[in-house]
Amino acid sequence: MVKVLKVKKAEAEQVKKLVQSKGWLAKYHIGRTQRYVLIPLTEDADLAQLSAYGKIEERNLQPFSRRRSFTDYLDFLKPEERAHLRRAYDVVGDIAILEIPPQLAKHELAIAWAFKRANPQIKVVAVKAGPTAGQFRIRPLRILVGEQRLTTIHKESGVLMKVDLGDVYFNPRYGSERLRIANLVKPNEKILVMFAGVGPFALVIAKKCPKCQITAIELNPEAYRLMEENIRLNRFSNIKPILGDVSDIVPKLKEQFDRIIMVLPEKGWDYLDLALKKVAKKGVIHFYAIVHENEIKDALNRISNLVGQKLDKINFKKVRSYAPHINIYAFDIYLK
Ligand SMILES: C[S@@+](CC[C@H](N)C(=O)[O-])C[C@H]1O[C@@H](n2cnc3c(N)ncnc32)[C@H](O)[C@@H]1O
Repeated sequence: MVKVLKVKKAEAEQVKKLVQSKGWLAKYHIGRTQRYVLIPLTEDADLAQLSAYGKIEERNLQPFSRRRSFTDYLDFLKPEERAHLRRAYDVVGDIAILEIPPQLAKHELAIAWAFKRANPQIKVVAVKAGPTAGQFRIRPLRILVGEQRLTTIHKESGVLMKVDLGDVYFNPRYGSERLRIANLVKPNEKILVMFAGVGPFALVIAKKCPKCQITAIELNPEAYRLMEENIRLNRFSNIKPILGDVSDIVPKLKEQFDRIIMVLPEKGWDYLDLALKKVAKKGVIHFYAIVHENEIKDALNRISNLVGQKLDKINFKKVRSYAPHINIYAFDIYLK
């Protein structure tokens, strides 16, 4: 018998990624019932945290025989070269994005072929060719192996998202964060997504909450066009996409919002004032910022000072690492 997390089918893929990223996925085959997926958990899994996503049960699952990883096909690397290998990678639809450090640049094609061999479902293997940059936050990528395209359809929490990684920002590592926020939403909420990209936050929330009204603002015309396409693709009627700059659009919006989501960690502080003017009584702002792990208290004080008397409480959590000792945090700012 092994402990499992029993989650709804539509959410399983996302929750599995979260469990895997924490190192809590036990080496057993995933179990399935008609409506649920049973994710096997290691002994040290944090059951309290995971119970937010489903029920913990004990089940009889088949132990897993290890699948070959791409690093198993790289025997030719010298031990000192192997030490530089980055095992973490991202998958968006059928595109894999690897990080290959300069020390391994001469082996990049061999590494990409090894990756494709170990993951035949992947059709394009690309490598990061620089940091995320510019106002549209686009990450330069170089295709190494496979089809010559950066357009794909990504599936997350039961939602289809068309993306073009050459022209828009998209990060699958926010998947469990999107699901966390969507699980907090209550029926009939009015929600504003600033910096919406191709719409992933708006789409996951729209799926969970058909009775919510979501307004989503994006500046990059190509991301906006894809957001419109994604709304049609998923047949949602509760998202209103707007093309433009948040600074111009938000002051013109007539309504107040129960929930505002601000995913622009590099510059979010510049827009917090704007969000505070549009948040309803007892509303919440999900604010994302890049903060050094020793400076969380300063960030909390800065938020408290900006919000003032209206502040009820702030919850925060690390979403992902940004640089050594520097992380992206989600601050859930609750108002009275
Ligand atoms: C970090 S990305 C987040 C995108 C999306 N929320 C996601 O999770 O994939 C920030 C997005 O904000 C857009 N953006 C940047 N400045 C903006 C502004 N002033 N007004 C509206 N959108 C903006 C960028 O084009 C980019 O798509």
